[in-house]
Amino acid sequence: MKAIIPAAGLGTRFLPVTRVVPKEMLPIGAKPALELIVDEARAAGADEIVIVISEGKELIRRYFEGQGDIRFVYQKEQKGLGHAVLQAEIDDDALILLGDALVVGCCAAKEMVEVSKGHGGAAVIGCERVPKEKVSRYGIMKLDGDRIVDMVEKPAIEEAPSDIAVAGRYLLPAAIFGYLKTQTPGKGGEIQLTDAIRRMLSERDAYAYVYPGKRQDIGNPDGYFAALEAYRGNS
Ligand code: UTP
Repeated sequence: MKAIIPAAGLGTRFLPVTRVVPKEMLPIGAKPALELIVDEARAAGADEIVIVISEGKELIRRYFEGQGDIRFVYQKEQKGLGHAVLQAEIDDDALILLGDALVVGCCAAKEMVEVSKGHGGAAVIGCERVPKEKVSRYGIMKLDGDRIVDMVEKPAIEEAPSDIAVAGRYLLPAAIFGYLKTQTPGKGGEIQLTDAIRRMLSERDAYAYVYPGKRQDIGNPDGYFAALEAYRGNS
């Protein structure tokens, strides 16, 4: 298994600091957030970590350069998460960890690897429970037990099939790259990872795993402050 960390986004919700500092490099104590995610990938057993960056985010490269298990690929245009993942195409199971999503309190990725083993190596998507009134902000799971039947992007409360949301971690077979290559742009004109996974669901089983930790989205200032508090409380 190899890990892919997409970190090529524009970070518009965190301007102006993201003009010079990638949001993924904001400090959580003495470490950049991205290093905590790299640590999580290693703890899960990834033997190579591919970080997807873009022009202007070379600080990431400078920081991690020389670490033998890490390599970098560029996403030249920000065409969405699915497109970013495709730039890192590998011929192995892919553990995808969003570069601006921290999980405090557990090693989500490591636990997902165990869950996948329990399901014969099937795909596993890391999830969190969200308050009913907030389902319209997330990708929401339609489940049969823990098997994923479908995923609905940002549903209205009355249409949400559950309160279980996609939460920044995916363990997917190499076959996902085939679906990404033929994926047409979706919401916002972007190549969405969720759309490719939905197509995969018609041919392969995938399972949702609600990890015990708390996801912190550091893609905006409020989320970042919350992450700092959560880490302080946890350390
Ligand atoms: P986000 O949508 O949260 O990041 O993507 P963004 O595009 O930087 O956000 P805003 O809206 O401009 O503030 C989640 C993760 O996927 C990466 C981001 O870097 C982030 O870590 N991403 C997103 C890419 O690598 N490429 C993309 O085209 C989009």
